[in-house]
Amino acid sequence: MQRLWKVRQDLVGRRVASSGSIAAKGRAALSGFCEQAGVSRLPAAPISLNSGGEMRFMSDPDRGATSARNHFLGPLGDAARFAAWAYTPFQRLAAPELYGLLATRAFTTNGLYLNLGYWKAARTIDEACAALALLVAEAARMGPDDDVVDVGFGFADQDLLWVERFAPRHITGLNVTPVQVRLARHRVRRRGLADRITLIEGSATAMPLPDACCDIVTAVECAFHFHTRADFIAEAFRVLRPGGRLVLADVIRAAPEPEGWRRRMQDFSWRQFAQKFAVPAANADQRTPYTAKLRAGGFETVDVTPIGEHVFPGWHRALGEDEALFARLPLAGRLPYRLLLNLDARTVYGAFDYVLATARKPTQERMPNGAI
Ligand SMILES: C[S@@+](CC[C@H](N)C(=O)[O-])C[C@H]1O[C@@H](n2cnc3c(N)ncnc32)[C@H](O)[C@@H]1O
Repeated sequence: MQRLWKVRQDLVGRRVASSGSIAAKGRAALSGFCEQAGVSRLPAAPISLNSGGEMRFMSDPDRGATSARNHFLGPLGDAARFAAWAYTPFQRLAAPELYGLLATRAFTTNGLYLNLGYWKAARTIDEACAALALLVAEAARMGPDDDVVDVGFGFADQDLLWVERFAPRHITGLNVTPVQVRLARHRVRRRGLADRITLIEGSATAMPLPDACCDIVTAVECAFHFHTRADFIAEAFRVLRPGGRLVLADVIRAAPEPEGWRRRMQDFSWRQFAQKFAVPAANADQRTPYTAKLRAGGFETVDVTPIGEHVFPGWHRALGEDEALFARLPLAGRLPYRLLLNLDARTVYGAFDYVLATARKPTQERMPNGAI
């Protein structure tokens, strides 16, 4: 294989050395293997290596970055890791590794959303994912005077949408998955919004932000991952200004069914979800303890509204009807989900409650005994 090395700017504007050609046959074989294993498709050439030796695909800036690493065998390594994660009962991955493996295999056709969607009025997955982001922003009463901290922003689709619809003063995003942060930054720059949206690699549970720096904290379908949700609530309280709002679209545990096969199915589904999707045991909250956690974190006017009826059935129906959406699931998920399509959403998602939670930081400091 002939390699012609040349220097060029990479997606994030750094100097990189990139390969001018890679044998088409080899790429096709790798691509097929990775697709079978559920790793995001290898996009067409050119491929670049950045200064850290990471492999990067230059053809489609919005879907082009993947988690492939280091050398030509990187994608094979990822495919093997993906298969091990999917098929080995006890294999656990932390959130950054999980989303690194999923790479740009997102749900929507146009954007790169990674949520189940809010289907009250939506007809397509693109509409539903955006509707969930809008629901959160509306619950936060987001507007031009607000500095927003958005944790777990995925590829920043929600932030781009919010700037367009609600024009908040500034959005600071925090995300632990490096490949998402890099691609999201690129998307923000491409839309000329780098002065309005700042994206940082960092955790929701140890925010690299000063006290009382924002008016709104949002977490769209991600707080179940945090280690722990209670630590995130404490951090949200710290970074919010007095009177600031916290809004979450979150997945929690449903109340247990009376004994029987539904109860066993709930326990099984939650265990699978927690194990495969990086959910710490401490986050297995049901609605009442969840509400109590927000109050214990110092928040007032706490409201936790179940919205699962507008999430799970729509998502389940869409997977049955929209072949393109179904095909975007990793293969490892597609095989079992074909069988689940024969069951109704209540049975498949019986273990889960989907909530929209809002809470406010008091405007005045309280004494430890609750007095103002
Ligand atoms: C299901 S995706 C949702 C992405 C996006 N909010 C959306 O709706 O498309 C969960 C996101 O949470 C991020 N995440 C997981 N743990 C995190 C943590 N401790 N701090 C910040 N982000 C985290 C992941 O990297 C991923 O971007």
